[in-house]
Amino acid sequence: MEQQIKELRERAGAAVDGSTNLRELDDVRVKFLGKKGELTALLRGMNQLSAEERPIVGQLVNNARREIEDLIAEKNSQLKASELQAKLASEKIDVTLPGRRIHEGHLHPLTLTLNRVKEIFVSMGYTVEEGPEVETDYYNFEALNLPKDHPARDMQDSFYITEEILLRTQTSPVQARTMERHKNNEPIRMIAPGRVYRRDDYDASHSPMFTQVEGLVIDKGISFADLKGTLEDFSKKIFGEKTKIRLRPSFFPFTEPSAEVDVSCVMCHGEGCKVCQGTGWLEILGAGEVHPDVLKMSGYDPDVVSGFAFGMGIERIAMLTYGLDDMRLLYDNDVRFLKQF
Ligand code: DAH
Repeated sequence: MEQQIKELRERAGAAVDGSTNLRELDDVRVKFLGKKGELTALLRGMNQLSAEERPIVGQLVNNARREIEDLIAEKNSQLKASELQAKLASEKIDVTLPGRRIHEGHLHPLTLTLNRVKEIFVSMGYTVEEGPEVETDYYNFEALNLPKDHPARDMQDSFYITEEILLRTQTSPVQARTMERHKNNEPIRMIAPGRVYRRDDYDASHSPMFTQVEGLVIDKGISFADLKGTLEDFSKKIFGEKTKIRLRPSFFPFTEPSAEVDVSCVMCHGEGCKVCQGTGWLEILGAGEVHPDVLKMSGYDPDVVSGFAFGMGIERIAMLTYGLDDMRLLYDNDVRFLKQF
């Protein structure tokens, strides 16, 4: 019996040694130490032994069990360590590989242009005001000296929602809204950027929705010369130092006198080319001295203060600064186009 135990102990030791993973090791444990295992079978055979032999053999079997358990425990921690090692090695990250690029978006060219325009005016001390895109007939037209039957309303085919409410056709209503918020002929220096809507076709130079920036300055002694100087300064900043401006007489109901403002062609610098249709000039905005009635309607006294106003289309400025020949490029949202900015 002693011999048998010794032999079992050696076979178990060899089996533990030979286990290459935790599963195999567990199979070894079950084979030798399990309920139906070899050691248990040996214990069962003990009833054939004499009363004196039993405790001795029992002791030997228990020793063998403990030894085998120790061997298994030791092997178990060895195998666990090497399995972890193998896992770490197989999951190693090669930090020298080039990273996967994250595609970063950026601002739309129209937003970039608008931001640039805002920056220029803010640097001149202007505030940035906002007004609603769904506007009343009063602010969009009447407060700007365009009563209900005024023929100049025809210049801006409108989207009416009711008789009194429409999608604003211009950012000019923000002039009246801003003036109303001030009392006692308080000076104003503001711009109002935003979307405007007209019943226009969608072609290379028209869209039923587009973007404007309105400007309004009111103070004592504001003259047409101030308007010209401001617009000249602005044009040089946005189109380049060499840019010249030209004012042509025009008509807007809310300004008197009024002017259409051209800049020297950004492509040919006045030589005459396709973009300026040979004239050397490009129209960029409308402007003028604020009409006394417009000041009066919004609570200002034209005998005390005067002002100038202007309104420009941002799409046009974007097209000129980026050299675009079709306005629709700005709305189609073709990533191949947008990527270039
Ligand atoms: N609101 C005009 C338009 O949309 C542009 C404009 C012209 C605005 C003259 C002004 C201005 O403030 O003084 O055609």
